[in-house]
Amino acid sequence: MAEGIFKKKAPGLKASSAGIAAHPSYRIFGVLEEILDEEGIPHENHVSTQLTKEKLDEAGVVLCMEKCHAEYVRKSFPFAADKVFLLSEYAGEQGDIPDPIGLDKEFYRKTFDIITGFVVKIISGLRNREIKNMFEHLKKTDSEVYEIIESEHRRQEDNLEMIASENFASFSVLEAASSFFTNKYAEGYPGKRYYGGCLHCDEIEVLAIERCKSLFGVEHVNVQPLSGTSANMAVYFAVLEMGDTIMSMDLSHGGHLSHGHPLSFSGRFFNIIPAHNDLKTGLIDYDELEKLALKHKPKLIICGASAYPRIIDFKKYREIADKAGAYLLADIAHIAGLVAAGEHPSPVPHCDFVTTTTHKTLRGPRGGMVMCRKEHASVIDRQVFPGIQGGPHMHIIAAKAAAFGEALKPEFRDYQAQIVKNSQALAEGLLRNDFTLVTGGTDNHMVLVDLRNKNMTGKEAQNLLEDAGITANKNSIPGDPEKPFITSGIRLGTPAVTTRGMKEAEMSRIAEFINQAVEARGDEKAIASIKDKVKVMTADFPVYKSE
Ligand SMILES: Cc1ncc(COP(=O)(O)O)c(C=O)c1O
Repeated sequence: MAEGIFKKKAPGLKASSAGIAAHPSYRIFGVLEEILDEEGIPHENHVSTQLTKEKLDEAGVVLCMEKCHAEYVRKSFPFAADKVFLLSEYAGEQGDIPDPIGLDKEFYRKTFDIITGFVVKIISGLRNREIKNMFEHLKKTDSEVYEIIESEHRRQEDNLEMIASENFASFSVLEAASSFFTNKYAEGYPGKRYYGGCLHCDEIEVLAIERCKSLFGVEHVNVQPLSGTSANMAVYFAVLEMGDTIMSMDLSHGGHLSHGHPLSFSGRFFNIIPAHNDLKTGLIDYDELEKLALKHKPKLIICGASAYPRIIDFKKYREIADKAGAYLLADIAHIAGLVAAGEHPSPVPHCDFVTTTTHKTLRGPRGGMVMCRKEHASVIDRQVFPGIQGGPHMHIIAAKAAAFGEALKPEFRDYQAQIVKNSQALAEGLLRNDFTLVTGGTDNHMVLVDLRNKNMTGKEAQNLLEDAGITANKNSIPGDPEKPFITSGIRLGTPAVTTRGMKEAEMSRIAEFINQAVEARGDEKAIASIKDKVKVMTADFPVYKSE
């Protein structure tokens, strides 16, 4: 029973059970089988195992249910005495857990719940120990900074992170991002640096580049851009002159600030033709795009968005760009992880340039990169450095290499597939509660909700949800009658909650929480009770669990 509970609650930990007087012929007791089935814990292949010297050698910690068991193990195997603990005490509690063997289901259920409670405490203790170790020095030298970082960590653990552009990087990515590369200047590129001492910078940058090339199947990549915005800037400055024409999706229809907003360098330095999606369906109107492109002859067409919940047809964009004689840039900042995992068609075969952030679905450190065909490699590299940047952030490049390594593993494909399933489950849950979704649903990691039938603005919804422990952002919807700071919509994304291990069942519950919060507007008590439920749910899916 305890082995099954550990395996379910902490799949990364290696746990196995053994008895003082066990024998392989012993079968799992009938009522226990029922409980394990109810809890979805597999047991078909379980064989009772005797405690042996070899098993004790292998174990890091040995946890016993009763004091007399612990005493027996310590006395019989003195070499292992230091690692033998009472389960309750290891969890910071006290008391024996009596063996329910031979008793009825009620006793087994009680024992199951007690062990589960202790296991959850142990796992959370291990997690906290691991995180505290990360900040061992900062905690001692600057408690003010440490406390604020720890508060942010608590906020991330306790709330449901539904901002579509956010995610939780792994411990490994965080470690690489805070590594000794922080200290190093390495202006230039591998093999062509302006400073000495760059041997290991070269090694790590080449590793990041090679991993990225295999991940996306691209000919050339520059991993130095500090953000998605600077990646876009590098492309514009590489192929355009001041005043040249860019055609991109209008911000209020899902585009990004760096695609031509009047207050961004993109809108100030270039002539922007904003394309609008079909107001009825919310979908990209490819016929309209073609008409606009032929009329305005842009030098660059951007495909890609910050708030578009459907598949983007890069091939169609290519045909339009060819007819207009334009370069084609795909900004896959949001969907890079989906593209890498084959959950969204790749723009690589169709586009001259592909830019992305590395911190959204791709689950890496904050940053950007430019991918392109070989023929554009030198103009892009020159534009990133020295064109728009100085020394590359080598610690972030190290973290990009670590994140690409994770993305190349088969588990990453499963993770991305789950993001989409979760997004679709969330959409279904919202539709069941009479929410209106822009485009009617989703093919990717996000859902865009039109709140007008709920008589609520995006700004109100964002605040209300935050009070209920759900973090989301207000978002304009196509043809939005409200100003960008108010909006009529909210954008919800599933990458971060999927990283926590949540699945379709949790998405349905989140849709219910959102509905309850909207229905309960103005009722502080009801909102507080949703927040309590969110806290119980998030506690079951810790972000930074020990691996
Ligand atoms: C499509 C798109 N491109 C570019 C960016 C900019 O990325 P950054 O915030 O790293 O500059 C974003 C950010 O949300 C985005 O959604």
